[in-house]
Amino acid sequence: MTGIKLLLFLCLFSIGFCRYFDDDTYKIFISRTKGKITKKKLTTNKNVSLLDISFAQIEGIEPDSFCAVPNVKTIYINGNDIFPKITKQLFECTPKLSSITIDAYPEAHQQIDRNAFNDLKELTFLRINDVNIARVGKDMFVGLNLEILNLVSCNITEIDSDSFSGMPNLKELHLGHNLISNFKPGTFKNLPHLKELMLNKNEISEINWDHWDKLPSLKSIDFADNPLVKCDVSKIKEHFPIVRFCNLGGGFNETQKAAMIEESKRYNVTIKFTNYY
Ligand SMILES: *[C@@H]1O[C@H](CO)[C@@H](O)[C@H](O)[C@H]1NC(C)=O
Ligand SMILES: *[C@@H]1O[C@H](CO)[C@@H](O)[C@H](O)[C@H]1NC(C)=O
Ligand SMILES: *[C@@H]1O[C@H](CO)[C@@H](O)[C@H](O)[C@H]1NC(C)=O
Ligand SMILES: *[C@@H]1O[C@H](CO)[C@@H](O)[C@H](O)[C@H]1NC(C)=O
Repeated sequence: MTGIKLLLFLCLFSIGFCRYFDDDTYKIFISRTKGKITKKKLTTNKNVSLLDISFAQIEGIEPDSFCAVPNVKTIYINGNDIFPKITKQLFECTPKLSSITIDAYPEAHQQIDRNAFNDLKELTFLRINDVNIARVGKDMFVGLNLEILNLVSCNITEIDSDSFSGMPNLKELHLGHNLISNFKPGTFKNLPHLKELMLNKNEISEINWDHWDKLPSLKSIDFADNPLVKCDVSKIKEHFPIVRFCNLGGGFNETQKAAMIEESKRYNVTIKFTNYY
């Protein structure tokens, strides 16, 4: 008998800890334990809506394990010392998933198949942090209609130009803490609802506006902690007509800042020059 089963047992019978207060769905927490996850161990007659596997050492996971929780909507896989490769097979019985968070320990070298989340039609939120992705491509998002995509700290150097082309409902794109230096033409095409674009802590030294499409809903864009040392303020308004927050980072000298602030008044945009690190 492994620790997993024990925790599951505790969880399912300690109502206050595991039960939502506003409906009759249950949560399963697997934490600070070791062992293998199987379908049998996750099986319960409760209607489980959330599965949280965090700060554990998961030595194995049977590919059909999540078939025990067919109504699960939210999955967290965070801070595990060990967690097996995440594959598409894992999600074959969980079509109601709307939110997946995988926040790995960098030292855990978490593996995720590029197509792992394909065809999860209800998925609107996907966060993957500290996993080595390197190249972002459309193959990762086949059959998805995400609203929030967070790929912070994924060693991203390259983004295919059609990566986001199948997800017109994208509202937030978090790409901070990567190695991005530029965007290919068309990367931001057909994103009519994108409100927030986080690009902080990357390698962007110049914004090549010819490669940027207009983002008509963009309210907030952040270039903090990039080696950005020049920016044409007139292009900001042109590409982001309703932008409220535009942070260009701390790479500009006082003379440049003063000139840009003066210019920004002409275009009625507010720009900031802040680094966080
Ligand atoms: C379980 O919960 C889902 C929503 O999370 C609901 O659609 C489904 O009807 C519930 N099933 C049962 C047997 O209560
Ligand atoms: C990113 O790349 C660096 C250098 O190659 C490596 O040390 C680090 O572990 C990688 N990060 C992840 C999350 O794999
Ligand atoms: C500020 O930066 C600009 C562009 O790099 C440069 O031409 C200018 O001499 C700098 N001004 C000061 C006061 O350092
Ligand atoms: C400037 O922008 C603010 C809101 O961002 C708006 O209320 C105001 O009407 C704009 N002024 C001009 C002159 O466009």
